[in-house]
Amino acid sequence: MENRSYVSLFQILLLMLLSSRNYSSQLDVECLKSIKQTLKDPGGILTNYWKFDNTTDGFICHFTGVECWNPGENKVLNLHLANMGLEGEFPSGLENCTSITGVDLSNNNLTGPLPADISKKIPFVTNLDLSFNIFTGEIPIGISNCSFLNVINLQHNHLSGSIPWQMTILGRLTSLNVAENQLSGPIPQFNFSMTAFSFAGNPGLCGAPLAACQGLAKKDKTSVIIGCVVAGISVTLLIVGVVIYFCLRKVTVKKKKKVLLDNMWAKHLKGVRGTKVSGFEKSISKMKLSSLMEATNDFNVESIIGTGRTGTMYRAILPDGSTFAVKRLQDSQHSETQFIAEMNTLGAVRHSNLVPLLGFCIAKKERLLVYKHMPNGNLYDSLHPTDAEVRHVLDWPLRLKISIGAAKGLAWLHHSCNPRILHRNISSKCILLDHDFEPKISDFGLARLMNPVDTHLSTFVNGEFGDLGYVAPEYGRTLTATPKGDVYSYGVVLLELVTGERPTNVSIAPDSFKGSLVDWISYLSNSSLLQDAIDKSLIGKGYDNELLQVLKVACSCVLSVPKERPTMFEVYQLLRAIGEKYHFTTDDDLPMLLPSTDGDLDELIVAQ
Ligand SMILES: *[C@@H]1O[C@H](CO)[C@@H](O)[C@H](O)[C@H]1NC(C)=O
Ligand SMILES: *[C@@H]1O[C@H](CO)[C@@H](O)[C@H](O)[C@H]1NC(C)=O
Ligand SMILES: *[C@@H]1O[C@H](CO)[C@@H](O)[C@H](O)[C@H]1NC(C)=O
Ligand SMILES: *[C@@H]1O[C@H](CO)[C@@H](O)[C@H](O)[C@H]1NC(C)=O
Ligand SMILES: *[C@@H]1O[C@H](CO)[C@@H](O)[C@H](O)[C@H]1NC(C)=O
Repeated sequence: MENRSYVSLFQILLLMLLSSRNYSSQLDVECLKSIKQTLKDPGGILTNYWKFDNTTDGFICHFTGVECWNPGENKVLNLHLANMGLEGEFPSGLENCTSITGVDLSNNNLTGPLPADISKKIPFVTNLDLSFNIFTGEIPIGISNCSFLNVINLQHNHLSGSIPWQMTILGRLTSLNVAENQLSGPIPQFNFSMTAFSFAGNPGLCGAPLAACQGLAKKDKTSVIIGCVVAGISVTLLIVGVVIYFCLRKVTVKKKKKVLLDNMWAKHLKGVRGTKVSGFEKSISKMKLSSLMEATNDFNVESIIGTGRTGTMYRAILPDGSTFAVKRLQDSQHSETQFIAEMNTLGAVRHSNLVPLLGFCIAKKERLLVYKHMPNGNLYDSLHPTDAEVRHVLDWPLRLKISIGAAKGLAWLHHSCNPRILHRNISSKCILLDHDFEPKISDFGLARLMNPVDTHLSTFVNGEFGDLGYVAPEYGRTLTATPKGDVYSYGVVLLELVTGERPTNVSIAPDSFKGSLVDWISYLSNSSLLQDAIDKSLIGKGYDNELLQVLKVACSCVLSVPKERPTMFEVYQLLRAIGEKYHFTTDDDLPMLLPSTDGDLDELIVAQ
């Protein structure tokens, strides 16, 4: 009876949650239907695999090339239709995919002009790849109104006219490639570093990074001669550049194919093995790159202990038996100076619930980060062991301890750390467990390193929003990271702890259910079955009240309206109160700089 009354309380709470979520968007279905109808598809992929006869929520998310915000919701995040031999014009039906952030139509046979009102078609797009098609006409000025654009690739089309100077107002743009078109006129001066490769193969383009425009030069003999020599040299450089470009390109393509399964990159570091590792602790400061290479068997695949969006983690065992974790950072776009500055900031961040950064090493293009090693792996693997290796199944007091510690670490990053840090990538995979199963948050501060230079600090780039199932729903509209976005992701981790389910595939749900864990919880509460959500192995052991209380906190964290979610500090206090009788917390409690309102906090973080 007692449990029953708790349950009805949650139902009210969750009803609120449910009613403010929008399940299906017919518009996105119209969008894909229109694309299928207007494009010729000789490969038959759209014809055969885009079937509109079954209209279960989220059915379009299974289509080839379609990536949704959420597997149970007809809301397209990215469209990857490269290499399909598609023919036709720029699909205007895209305007009905109202939340799309990535459009890849590269390597097709698309023709005709780009739409003048392109910013009305794809207003939120961050990545636009139309390369290797047959688009004609000018680059529309209206593209400068697609203000979220980070990357534009128009390489190898038949575009003519000049590059609109208005494109320089695209404040988030970090990469523009217009090589191999018929563009002419001066190249506008963009904010980011431009390479000649991105403009090569357009006979009429001039100005940095290509040769200077000749318009006003005096036509006396010397300048003509100089001009010829300069032009000759630049043509030679250009040809060499293009050749190098294509060689490099081949290498990248190859690398992508082999994913991370080889350590060729490490073999290329042989010549710089003597590079010193910069250490924040004595144990590290005498190390060289060679020690890291020996300790990981030249970054052998066998040493990999995890891969994520920020990079690959290796286990490094030194001759004396001491163990570290070494992260090879993925594509950091910062200069060496900026990278070192970031490292020095992160190296100074110390808290008992954060994985300490011990040192770092810059070797050629590689950025290697040395962390303390956490012997019990990550929370995700402990909660969802694969059948082959049934590990320590976490009992409830242990899960509660983990939830409190992780909340504390995150609250500290949000409220006490200087500068305050948004994690942006919280998931059960970045909560690591030490020998005592004390949780330590890893990967904090790295999302920023993935950002190109000069981007607004709290915005996302390249459609990188975090792991599927953990992304706060408002990110689709705002594209801006906030503390409340971290709270949402943390709420999903709490749901994982209470239900034992994965954030995307809910194993106890019937096969027809295609939603995320959050959707599942909403669905159960709506059917008065919320108690069914709780992990069966935990029920009836005297913890039922605590389980429901934590479930309540989790539900408040994943409310769809960010303002209604608690702050991380409040979450920590709530969980600590629930776990008080266990005396988990050691008294290193931090002086939290208490935020008066959310608004203040957001500003502080944005302004860091
Ligand atoms: C484009 O069309 C031409 C024939 O019109 C064909 O030869 C070529 O393979 C097509 N390209 C792609 C990428 O399908
Ligand atoms: C977008 O959807 C609306 C409503 O279904 C439809 O009337 C319109 O034609 C669609 N736009 C395009 C370009 O297909
Ligand atoms: C871009 O947006 C501005 C302001 O909203 C508007 O005045 C202008 O017409 C738009 N330009 C194009 C080409 O769509
Ligand atoms: C260039 O970058 C700076 C710093 O990131 C930014 O404040 C400025 O708005 C950018 N300029 C333009 C024209 O976008
Ligand atoms: C639609 O698809 C779902 C799952 O993909 C399936 O369970 C259901 O039976 C299908 N409905 C129809 C009418 O085919």
